Amino acid sequence: QPRVFYDPAQLRAEIRQAQADGKRVGLVPTMGALHPGHLSLVAQSQKSCDLTVVTIFVNPSQFAPGEDFAKYPRTLDADLQLLSEFDPVWVLVPEVDAMYPPGSTTVVKAPEIALPLEGTFRPIHFDGVATIVLKLFQVAPADAAFFGQKDFQQVRVIEEMVRDLLVPIEIVRCPIIREADGLAMSSRNRYLSPEEREIALSISRSLHEAAQQIAGGEADAQLMRGKIEQALHEAGIGEIDYVSIACPRTLKSVETIEGDVVILVAARVGTTRLIDNVLVPFP
Ligand code: PAJ
Repeated sequence: QPRVFYDPAQLRAEIRQAQADGKRVGLVPTMGALHPGHLSLVAQSQKSCDLTVVTIFVNPSQFAPGEDFAKYPRTLDADLQLLSEFDPVWVLVPEVDAMYPPGSTTVVKAPEIALPLEGTFRPIHFDGVATIVLKLFQVAPADAAFFGQKDFQQVRVIEEMVRDLLVPIEIVRCPIIREADGLAMSSRNRYLSPEEREIALSISRSLHEAAQQIAGGEADAQLMRGKIEQALHEAGIGEIDYVSIACPRTLKSVETIEGDVVILVAARVGTTRLIDNVLVPFP
């Protein structure tokens, strides 16, 4: 079983001690409900670090009123069981008051890269993410932190925050882990009924097809966006938040594909909001 910490100050002291002993420490921030996508980050950390710290904290400040904070899956026992495959792993499971001392009003304003895409639909989300991730870097002063490209804009936000605020930590991007049929793994997939799961598959399918066409030389981004939107509609997805073909660095959408692009989708299947993306190297 992994070692579990509830007190951030104790975790920080022990991480400092491990580092003083010459150990390289990796950090994997999560909200729990762990699946193989999360575990791939732990595995990636283990490759280059002597000790991996996983944090499990459903961060209230990144959910807007009406989003799924209250019903977000909380499966701590199963999470610890999954993490017991890895050694050595330390797990921080803080209370809300430990991360947000009563009376605290200081927040991080996310960098401008937070404004498009998710920022249009979840305007406070990345301020909440940036705030909690900076706090986690303070209580778990690791040498490297591991983030999934599943949340492509999130990892860009963290990279820019770390650069702008001179945070001494290396950010490592990790590839998207998918189900055998292509569906990007997500804690929110467990909200999907079997019928909805089938509909949700159209997201990864249409992304994959578009990526293949771009790799084959198609350069018309608007045409490709239209094809993806049509495929999603035909599959029965009612509400598409966005389909964007963008520069992977700036996240600005492009008209003509003349360099590497990332195709990003956010859509609602029933009441579940799903995101996915694919990075396409310029052919
Ligand atoms: P959570 O959604 O639990 O995700 C934790 C980490 O796992 C993120 O870096 C995310 O990109 C990664 N991840 C999720 N699904 C993945 C998949 N299918 N393949 C690869 N990586 C995947 O993202 C958050 O939590 C929170 O916003 C957090 C950063 C912890 C701040 O609260």
